[in-house]
Amino acid sequence: MSSVLALSVNGSIHRVSPDAERPLLLVLRDDLELTGAKIGCGEGECGTCTVVVDDELCRACVTPVGAVTGKRIRTLEGLAENGQLHPLQQAFLEYGALQCGYCTAGMIMSAWALLQHNSAPTKPEIVAHMQGNICRCGCYPRIVQAIQQAAEQLSVRAGLEVPR
Ligand code: FES
Ligand code: FES
Repeated sequence: MSSVLALSVNGSIHRVSPDAERPLLLVLRDDLELTGAKIGCGEGECGTCTVVVDDELCRACVTPVGAVTGKRIRTLEGLAENGQLHPLQQAFLEYGALQCGYCTAGMIMSAWALLQHNSAPTKPEIVAHMQGNICRCGCYPRIVQAIQQAAEQLSVRAGLEVPR
């Protein structure tokens, strides 16, 4: 049996304890010190631990780390590039889409996964997709606005990058 597990997180390979049953959330937070994803319900219900695995949502609290070896894991810490916040992060700040911030990493990662599959989601599509993420501070209207703003900005950016 291997003495370590190899995980691909935010484009880097990390070697972690071989206990394949440990929750991914604890490995990220305790072993890799990636503390963006938060511990909430611990039962897959609140979304505060959300990360993205191979472009799909993943509730890290109920996902054994052994289930995601060999897959691409992305966390909030992997969104900023070259010192620039991702448009979703920027929009959450600009729209004040958080109060305590406890849900925010999970919200942003859920939104990021949505935009991987749908670059121009409608408001109902955003609301439906974000159903699994709970905000106890009730920031939902501003969260939806922020996601719409980020989607627009990303579309503009993609348009600018299209070769003439
Ligand atoms: S802590 Fe994972 S869904 Fe609530
Ligand atoms: S900002 Fe407090 S739980 Fe969402």
